[in-house]
Formats: sequence, structure tokens, C-alpha cells
Amino acid sequence: MSKQEEKKLFIETLGCQMNDTDSQHIIAELKEHKNYTTTTNMEDSDLIIINTCSVREKPVQKLFSEIGQFNKKKKANAKIGVCGCTASHLGEDIMKRAPYVDFVLGARNISKIKDVIEKKGAVEIDIDYDDSTYQFAQSGTSLYKTSVNISIGCDKECTYCIVPATRGDEISIPLEMIVQQVQKDALNGAKEVTLLGQNVNSYGRRFSDGREKTNFTKLLQEVSKVEGIERIRFTSPHPLHMDDEFIEEFAKNPKISKCIHMPLQSGSTSILKAMKRGYTKEWFLNRTKKIRDLVPEVRITTDIIVAFPGETQEDFEDTIDVINQVKFDQIFNFKYSPRPNTQALALEDLEIADDIGSARLTEVIELHKLHQSELMYSNIGKTVSVLFESLKPNGEVSGFTDNYCQVFVKGSDELLGEIVNVKITDATRTALKGEVIN
Ligand code: SAH
Ligand code: SF4
Ligand code: F3S
Repeated sequence: MSKQEEKKLFIETLGCQMNDTDSQHIIAELKEHKNYTTTTNMEDSDLIIINTCSVREKPVQKLFSEIGQFNKKKKANAKIGVCGCTASHLGEDIMKRAPYVDFVLGARNISKIKDVIEKKGAVEIDIDYDDSTYQFAQSGTSLYKTSVNISIGCDKECTYCIVPATRGDEISIPLEMIVQQVQKDALNGAKEVTLLGQNVNSYGRRFSDGREKTNFTKLLQEVSKVEGIERIRFTSPHPLHMDDEFIEEFAKNPKISKCIHMPLQSGSTSILKAMKRGYTKEWFLNRTKKIRDLVPEVRITTDIIVAFPGETQEDFEDTIDVINQVKFDQIFNFKYSPRPNTQALALEDLEIADDIGSARLTEVIELHKLHQSELMYSNIGKTVSVLFESLKPNGEVSGFTDNYCQVFVKGSDELLGEIVNVKITDATRTALKGEVIN
């Protein structure tokens, strides 16, 4: 068979880190099986893919305005595909609204990419589809960092969240497949791996081949054995499943990066109940305290939703109280956005006025900025170990500390991929500056 003509793929990725990994899989599959290479120039591409997010209303609106623009400017005959979570939940409605779209591929069906690009009008959005054991083509882009999916779907029923409806039930990827992937990436030069799932610390409860259950702590231990991997990160863990065994492994395993995402959502026990998060304000504070006691240098990041339906001023003050007690290193803040197929839609009558929601959001942002400055300035004078990963146009090299703080130093590409001690000399609210010490 003659080699297929090389074609160009333009791909835009919205949403979370799982979507980034899905896009890497799409790129690798199309490269291996269909001879596509990526381009950043949409107008010159043969295939345009948007890998979408549905978690809030905004990215969905963005999708339709963008594909309209793409359709106007694209090369004649170039195809347009909509993939990911919005593809899952809107399905063929996407084609009704935008008839020029060639195919729609749901977030749980990514392994079908090489087939759907050939089928005009294909809509593959089965949320029971199981590609947890599909061996994706190897992505060649991994440098010092890599990300590996450890599960598909989500078994939780957080009442505000559309993800279980777009990604389906949770199925863990077999442990040996994950370890093999990490080994391959390590051979390609990766020193850091991020394990990804919607709820990573419920890993190992269900596999598609019905094999014996395992758990996330065991997976962490196995991944730590991979030669060449110096740092392990993961997201997102669920605060409910942060048992002592997990926290102790986090604390004592030297390969685990000492930065942890603990998505609070709300500090009010009654709102947490309405969200079906399964934990209380006290449990969350108890877990953060245990982590801080065992790992004083830990950085803790979080997600917060303000103005969930029925959130009173008192409930909101509980959130502010937790923020004041924990002093998060990073907060991803969101104003509640009603989503299709979620239980919270039934609370429509309790929805909070938009101006109150916006004011609460601003209050969280401003308080967090104060904490961020305080925490970042406290690093000045410390010596930290940094994995350098990119060269900046101004001659600086950027990397991350073990607890995942960005650091800039003056230096050259010799630092790339190295883990080096740095003395911190200056700070801003979001990054540190330092000097390499030998
Ligand atoms: N599985 C991850 C979250 C995935 S969604 C976890 O549980 O941490 C990422 C974040 O989006 C959530 O943590 C939540 O803070 C936010 N989010 C989800 N649904 C939302 C909605 N309807 N409105 C506003 N924010 C939402
Ligand atoms: Fe959504 Fe909750 Fe699952 Fe996270 S754990 S993806 S917030 S349902
Ligand atoms: Fe968005 Fe889907 Fe991720 S809704 S946040 S892309 S799981």
C-alpha cells in the first residue's frame, strides 16, 4: 500500500486535563493511522477538531461561535469535528445547529476517532462505551512531564455536575497498562507523571474485565517504582476518600509531589449535603490539618463554587471561614452554572441572584489574593528543588518546585529536564524568582 498523503490537523482543546490527554490521544491515533500532523494554522488544515467542555454554560456558547468562524475561514473540503463533553451531551443537536459539522464524537468514545473522520454525519456518543483497555497510539510529544489517564467516567452524583452524564460510569484502567504507559514515557525522557481521573482516589473499584479490586495507594506505590520517574502528581482526588492510609502514603512517599488538589466546593455542611459531596466542613478541615501536620511544606489547591442554589450568607461565610483556616495556595473559583442532566436543576427556585453570586465570587478572589501573596513571599530565602522544563524568550528558564510552585531563573537550555537546587530571591503572587546554587 502506498503511504497516505500527509494531512494537517488543527485541534483546539477546552476544559480539563483529561480533555488535554484525550486530545493527545486523538493526535497520536490520527498520526499513526491516518498520517496527520498538527498545525496551529486553522486555515491551512484538512481537519479541524474542537475538543469541548460542558462543565459550565460559557464554554458551550464559545463552541458555537467558534465553529461558525472556523467554517467561514477553513479550506474548501476541510472537515470539522466536535469531540468531548459537549459532543456527549448535545450529540446530533450540534449538527442541527451547525450543519457543516462533519462528525460528533463523545468524550467516552475517543478511541473511535480514526473511524469517525471517514464517516460524514457520524455521531458516536455512547456513554456506556468502554475503551478503558484500548491501547492508544503512543504520543510522541512527551518531554519532561507526562499525563496518564487512570480511569474513565465518574461514579459520583455531585448535584451540580454534568460530567457523569458526559463521561459515564467510572471504570479503572488496568494497573499494568498504566505502569507500562508510565514506563514508556519515562524512557522518552519524562521525569514527572500526572495521574488523571475525575476521582482518582476511588481508583481500583471497578475494572472492565471484572478483575480483583485494588486501590489508589497501591497504584501510587507501583508507579513510584518506575525508573526515571522522580515526581508523581495526580488530579482530582476527592476529599471524602482521603483516608489516613492515603494521606500517610502522600506524606512519606518521596516521589509524590507535595502539592495536593482538595476540591472543597463549599465550606457549608448543608450546602455540601445539597451538593451530595459526602463530607462535612469539619471532615475537610480535619483532612487538611492532617496533611499539613505531616507535610508542613504542602501546597493545597482547591475548587470553589459560590452561589449554589439556596446558599445563604451564613453558608457563604462558612466557605470564607474554610478559606481563612486553610489558606489555599490556589483557588479555582466558579459561580454556579445550571447544567442539563443535573439534579440541582430541581433547585431552580432557590437560585441565587446573579449580582449576589458575582459579589461572592469577587470576595473569594480578593481574599485569596491576600493569602497567595503572603504564602508566596514566605518562600524568599528558602532553597527549593526545581525541575526545569521551558526556556523563555527573555533568557529565563522556568520550572516547578516539588510542591508545584513556578520558579524562574536566569540560565540556558542546559537546565532543561534537570532537577536543580535554587535559592529563592524574589516572589510575585503567582511565581518565584531565584538563583541556581551548585
Ligand atoms: N472531578 C473533579 C471536577 C471536575 S469539574 C472533582 O470532583 O474535583 C471541575 C470543577 O468545575 C469542579 O470541581 C467544580 O468546582 C466546577 N463545576 C462543576 N460543575 C459546575 C457547575 N455546574 N457550575 C459551576 N462550577 C462547576
Ligand atoms: Fe463532577 Fe463530582 Fe464527578 Fe467531580 S466527583 S466529576 S464534581 S460528579
Ligand atoms: Fe469539561 Fe468534560 Fe473535563 S465537562 S471539565 S472537559 S470532564
